Amino acid sequence: MNDGMVKQLSQMLDSLSEHGWAVMPNAISKESCRALSLDLNRHQDAGDFRDASVGRGDSKSQESSIRSDSIHWLGASDPEVSIQDWLLEMKDLSESLNQNFFLSLNEYECHFACYEPGAFYLKHLDRFQNNSERIISVVLFLNDGWLKVDAGELLIYDREDSSLITAEISPEAGSLVLFQSDKIFHEVRKTNRRRLSVAGWLRSNTGAL
Ligand code: OGA
Ligand code: MN
Repeated sequence: MNDGMVKQLSQMLDSLSEHGWAVMPNAISKESCRALSLDLNRHQDAGDFRDASVGRGDSKSQESSIRSDSIHWLGASDPEVSIQDWLLEMKDLSESLNQNFFLSLNEYECHFACYEPGAFYLKHLDRFQNNSERIISVVLFLNDGWLKVDAGELLIYDREDSSLITAEISPEAGSLVLFQSDKIFHEVRKTNRRRLSVAGWLRSNTGAL
């Protein structure tokens, strides 16, 4: 785990247990974010991105009225150092959360996401109805110098009252957001500028929570 994350770890853990979500500004260096965004662009230019879909298995559908980003799943076959480093950070995060919350996170998955101007993702939970493996959602932003007029904020709804917006997070490079996949409603406000992120999930496939 890098310095930015280590410094903010205990605060992040407190916020996660108290509110169900946490944000760490500057969790990742601008240089690392820049490397990730260059690799994102390269994958997009190579035609590796697909329109994102909603749901899973039989209920999977492309729903551009619900979300309009495009994604590329990251994995062991991506040769880029920036991607492999990020996958290791996801693993480290899983281990920290396991130790602190007695969880049994044992898998993780993540994808690059690109929201072109006008794109959005309506209010939703990250857990599928037919699958409860996703425990913690992790979003890293990659946009340097994000302005208020760019919009595209990640809206976090209150865990206790999901009609209340409790945070509007600017998707600035290096900010890392964690939240409970099954409890925290969230939304990506329509963006005015090309918006890049890595969205991922720490999972437990043991069936127990
Ligand atoms: C998601 C999601 C938020 C973001 O992919 O489920 O909510 O800011 N992403 O990319
Ligand atoms: Mn989501």
